[in-house]
Amino acid sequence: MTTITVIRGDGIGPEIMDATLHVLDAMQLGLAYEFADAGMVALEKHGELLPAATMDSIRRNKIALKSPLTTPVGGGFSSINVELRKRFDLYANVRPARTFPNTKARFPGNVDLITVRENTEGAYIGEGQEVSADGETAVLTQKVTRKGSERIVRYAFELARTTGRKKVTVVHKANILKSTSGLFLKTAREVAAQYPDIECNEMIVDNACMQLVMRPEQFDIIVTTNLFGDIISDLCAGLVGGLGLAPGANIGNDAAIFEAVHGSAPDIAGKGIANPCALLLGAAQMLDHLQRADQAERLRKAIVATLEAKDSLTPDLGGDGTTLAFAKAIASRL
Ligand code: NAI
Ligand code: MG
Repeated sequence: MTTITVIRGDGIGPEIMDATLHVLDAMQLGLAYEFADAGMVALEKHGELLPAATMDSIRRNKIALKSPLTTPVGGGFSSINVELRKRFDLYANVRPARTFPNTKARFPGNVDLITVRENTEGAYIGEGQEVSADGETAVLTQKVTRKGSERIVRYAFELARTTGRKKVTVVHKANILKSTSGLFLKTAREVAAQYPDIECNEMIVDNACMQLVMRPEQFDIIVTTNLFGDIISDLCAGLVGGLGLAPGANIGNDAAIFEAVHGSAPDIAGKGIANPCALLLGAAQMLDHLQRADQAERLRKAIVATLEAKDSLTPDLGGDGTTLAFAKAIASRL
């Protein structure tokens, strides 16, 4: 038995988590679930957004499957997701984007790439944020370290090796952001030299965005800093048909959290029509992480087969299925 922490989350969170666990149960993986609260649910029940019991559970189990959390505006944490990444030092945000059948993808061909985003530094550290007294000037501190750059680029190259991918593209803006992006690029070159078996190229971020839209097939693994990775991974999700199919893993040395890229979708919460695929694909990343690649592939194949058959697809994919009906259709193809 492997015990994982399960956070059902806010908004559509409980609906897509129930659907996901329905499919995982059908796979008989020998997983035990330890349910823990975070977000608005936790605030109502325990008076805090991120209770100590939830932190302890993740620390103990080292693996969490997490639904989206609503971040209340004004007060408490700036974002519970950012807080979780910081507290567990989940430095690698790994976001695969691949073409699935019968989606509303913008790009007709096959996209199959992974964005590896630095998750703990860069423009998102939340330090040195100030607005002058007259409200006319705002500043923010960015921080990039050699250690932070080294470990994320190494993660990308190791990922290429373990997944049989051939190429890593380092995305940067070192021509303008000479200090921060410059240090990232310099460190990336040093790491790349240690992986002669993996092709490496460099691309400036604005050109990378255009290239992704025009010729996404030239990319295999992208590695980049926090802000660029956030934007690029959403661009990639858009390329392959939207947020309902975009999963992400947050990986550190001591813990890992698997999730959907999307949020709690308050506009459709409680209606039973949310697409469970993003969280299911996050669960597949979790199975890969648990060295159960065969089970991860089994799950992905069942999702692809259900999309191909257009069986019970949710409205975002053009169908009229419910969240649970879609999950049951997937479970029946395992
Ligand atoms: P969102 O991702 O929740 O929704 C954007 C749009 O996509 C909405 O129209 C929504 O209905 C649709 N959508 C999202 N997931 C879907 C699914 N599975 N199936 C069908 N349609 C789906 O982004 P939004 O509205 O900006 O944020 C809502 C809340 O979520 C905020 O409180 C935000 O802080 C939080 N959030 C949490 C994240 C996390 O926990 N990892 C990530 C992003 C946002
Ligand atoms: Mg984002």
